[in-house]
Amino acid sequence: MRDSMNSSQRNPSIVILDFGSQYSELIARRIRETEVYSIVVSYTVTAEQLSQMAPKGIILSGGPSSVYKESAPLCDPAIWDLKIPVLGVCYGMQVMVKQLGGIVEAAIGKAEYGKAPLEVDDPTALLTNVENGSTMWMSHGDSVKDLPFGFVRLAHTQNTPDAAIACHNRRFYGVQFHPEVVHSTFGMVMIRNFVHNICLCSPDWTTNTFIDEAISDVKRKVGNKRVLLALSGGVDSSTLAFLLKKAIGDQLTCMFIDQGFMRKGEPEFLMDYFHEKFHINVEYINARERFVSKLKGVCDPEIKRKIIGEEFIRVFEEESLRLGPFDYLAQGTLYPDVIESSGTNVDPQTGERIAVKIKSHHNVGGLPKDLQFKLVEPLRTLFKDEVRKVGRSLGLPEEIVCRHPFPGPGLAIRILGEVTHEKLNCLRDADFIVREEVAEAGLYHEIWQAFAVLLPVRSVGVMGDQRTYAWPIVVRCVSSEDGMTADWSRLPDSLLEKISNRIVNEVRGVNRVVLDITSKPPGTIEWE
Ligand code: XMP
Repeated sequence: MRDSMNSSQRNPSIVILDFGSQYSELIARRIRETEVYSIVVSYTVTAEQLSQMAPKGIILSGGPSSVYKESAPLCDPAIWDLKIPVLGVCYGMQVMVKQLGGIVEAAIGKAEYGKAPLEVDDPTALLTNVENGSTMWMSHGDSVKDLPFGFVRLAHTQNTPDAAIACHNRRFYGVQFHPEVVHSTFGMVMIRNFVHNICLCSPDWTTNTFIDEAISDVKRKVGNKRVLLALSGGVDSSTLAFLLKKAIGDQLTCMFIDQGFMRKGEPEFLMDYFHEKFHINVEYINARERFVSKLKGVCDPEIKRKIIGEEFIRVFEEESLRLGPFDYLAQGTLYPDVIESSGTNVDPQTGERIAVKIKSHHNVGGLPKDLQFKLVEPLRTLFKDEVRKVGRSLGLPEEIVCRHPFPGPGLAIRILGEVTHEKLNCLRDADFIVREEVAEAGLYHEIWQAFAVLLPVRSVGVMGDQRTYAWPIVVRCVSSEDGMTADWSRLPDSLLEKISNRIVNEVRGVNRVVLDITSKPPGTIEWE
């Protein structure tokens, strides 16, 4: 059974039955936004198990199946007699209709995917304060043909007569759209209506509650055993280090492997911050020379990534044996990583997750068989912005909380072609200027990523009376929501001028600065 926050002892206010939707955890996250505690469980949960959890409401998630197919997943029919309010979302609504005696069929010619205006027929209960004509996000190929006995229509769209339905006296509701996605403009209003007004949940679940419960979960799980954490300096592993320090103190050892590809001043900042100021055990591993020498003569970006990943594992292995033994490996896995992750196995005896792969941030493949740890992943149900909130509450500085994303192989992939110390120094200085000037202009937080790239071609320039023959630096600044798509940032000319002047004047080996004005797609954010 999955738990959308952690395996806390408290009873959830809302239980989400997962029918295989990619949005189940997003629903849990929206419920957290209403400050209510929820958990996600498999749709196979029994009515008896649910009664023991004593939730105030149940949500049936969407899912990829068709309820009229023979093998379609349905819920325990006894759930309908628990006298608990239920909201069915998309496939979840179709489960409700089917199990309560209505009919669902293929919406031939009437399937709806994407945005649709919602025409509200009954603006009460679930749809209180939901604006007529507001956009809802549809994604369905099946539709309700006949409502079950006792149900009424709350809203329709052009293609879907029963877009929202209710059986008011049993407090059962169904929506054919996805209120949890951002495109559904009044989706949060609906979710609040259900959670607060229909289920009468009180808003008592905050970031601090999460932290307190995560700490007691970690304590319970780890006992007096030792935990190893690979600290990268990003917001996920930094937040985790703070959380674990609070939970288990000196049983935590952080390992910071300096590959030599970090940004200017970062290794020093990290050691000073974590080790000196907050007395978190951080073992600094200087592996700079090892990594650069492994990359000698290597130009292909994929081979570079592979070499860096393999070397990381080697260093990690050697150092954890030296510093160990450790029982647990802590990872700053977030929910989006969980969706992608195929790198974990479950121990058949204990049911605990075992690491066979370090988080993709480090771009590493499998850990050797004799070096497998049990996992501690207290952030695995959270989304990035929620981790930022947790980090802030734990006292992490804005500098870390709002840090721009940075690839695991770092500057090594932002130098095209062979990586050398000379190029690394050059790029580090140029990158520092880009970020410093963007911050100085007050634009750092508006930009998703601002950085420099070094191209391994030389061109002619002139400085004073001297002819130069040096590298160009590319300035890359993009805006993005999630890194999947991006647009190039329109920076003021005066800022670009300052960046360009400073780079050519202050960075040895560079005589030209160019601006990347490609969006993603067709470009990528990084150059490699
Ligand atoms: P691209 O270049 O594919 O990058 O548009 C999308 C986002 O992913 C980041 N990125 C990485 N992050 N490890 C990471 O943790 C990596 O190896 C890696 N490679 C790219 C990139 O910075 C951008 O935010």
